[in-house]
Amino acid sequence: MKVGIIGSGGREHAICHFLSQSNKISKIYCFPGNAGTNDIAENISIDLENFENLKKFIFDNKINLIVIGPEKPLVDGLTDYLEKHNILVFGPNKIASQLEGSKIFTKQLCKKFNIPTAKFGIFNNREESIKFLKNSKFPIVIKADNLASGKGVYISENEKEAQIAVNEIFDGKFGEAKNLLIEEFLYGEEMSFFTIHDGKCFKNFGTAQDHKRVLEGDKGKNTGGMGAYSPSRLINNELEKKIINKIINPTLKGLSELGVEYKGFLYAGLMIVENEPFLIEYNVRMGDPECQTILPKLKTDLCDVILACCKKELNNQRIEWSNKKSLCFVICSNGYPDTYEKNVEIPNLDKILLKKNEYLFHAGTSNKDDKIFAIGGRVLNFVGLSDDFSSAKSSIINNLNKLNWSGGFFRKDIGFKVIK
Ligand code: AMP
Ligand code: GLY
Repeated sequence: MKVGIIGSGGREHAICHFLSQSNKISKIYCFPGNAGTNDIAENISIDLENFENLKKFIFDNKINLIVIGPEKPLVDGLTDYLEKHNILVFGPNKIASQLEGSKIFTKQLCKKFNIPTAKFGIFNNREESIKFLKNSKFPIVIKADNLASGKGVYISENEKEAQIAVNEIFDGKFGEAKNLLIEEFLYGEEMSFFTIHDGKCFKNFGTAQDHKRVLEGDKGKNTGGMGAYSPSRLINNELEKKIINKIINPTLKGLSELGVEYKGFLYAGLMIVENEPFLIEYNVRMGDPECQTILPKLKTDLCDVILACCKKELNNQRIEWSNKKSLCFVICSNGYPDTYEKNVEIPNLDKILLKKNEYLFHAGTSNKDDKIFAIGGRVLNFVGLSDDFSSAKSSIINNLNKLNWSGGFFRKDIGFKVIK
């Protein structure tokens, strides 16, 4: 069969890599992909907002299945559009994608179904928000309602900082803002919890801990993710049961009351406070770099798992995992997450010869004249799998030394909580 993957990041290269290992798949197209997917698939540059053109390409090239990686096309309703034209799609529909597209949608669902989350208030104007802050405890969390690519969340240490956040959001820094969210700050440790769904049932799809801050020691600005490790050091059977019973199941019940059957990956961003889970946010996709970290542990053919979901047969599909520990380091362009130079050559990639249990996934890269250039903030992902995190790290560092790229940087302390 022929498969199309929407997206261009490390997550999509990882999905592409593991789908390319399936003997059921004869050809993969990536829309638009990157220099890594270019080696194993055909990259197609197409406007992802023009659903009609995409549909035409899918029909003209007889593509049998579309896998959607990032949130934007999901929130825009690409699944609904393609399904209306009888195309097999893996990814949730537009209403379900509100779990990520609108933080207020999710908070209201939490309230209605008693899902543990930070206490919150929804404000529709500047004056009331600022008035509320007068009697608040700090730090406090202020969030824009819209999709804001991981930005749009402020942790404000005092009233003045919080006022700036409120003003920036209502001034339209993240697009038109009718509402914002003010939230209690939760003290705990974060964990990414993944499930995969076919509309009728779901299965666990691993846990990870992402390092979102740009500087070592989890300091500095928030990024899309500087690295991750899997499994999370926090997960245990009791916690897993609580997450499913208190968070995932009530969410699915809430969606079903809206007539929605959830199909696709679901990513619960949790704060764990003394072995109790609190929902911080939902994402309606795999995490990036969590996907690159988790997929190498999957022993089952990814194509079988995705097809089982599309056919509502996940119940009959075994999903097997390796017990190994997985670690991922993200290499970013100098300057990220602020401005950075584009089109910087990455010369040494051909010096890296990956061994078993080592992976290199591209993100913001592009080919030109047989050379590879960095064109994005997050550029490459080095993954190592091993019996322990510390030897996984050694194998990554060994490859990073061979890369020796002056155009970028990485955090050397990924996984510091699980590596002595
Ligand atoms: P979000 O985009 O909602 O995941 O928020 C981005 C980051 O802000 C999260 O990964 C957390 O590190 C932090 N954060 C968000 N909400 C809270 C909260 N209520 N308490 C503490 N930290 C939070
Ligand atoms: N790594 C965080 C995310 O994918 O949203």
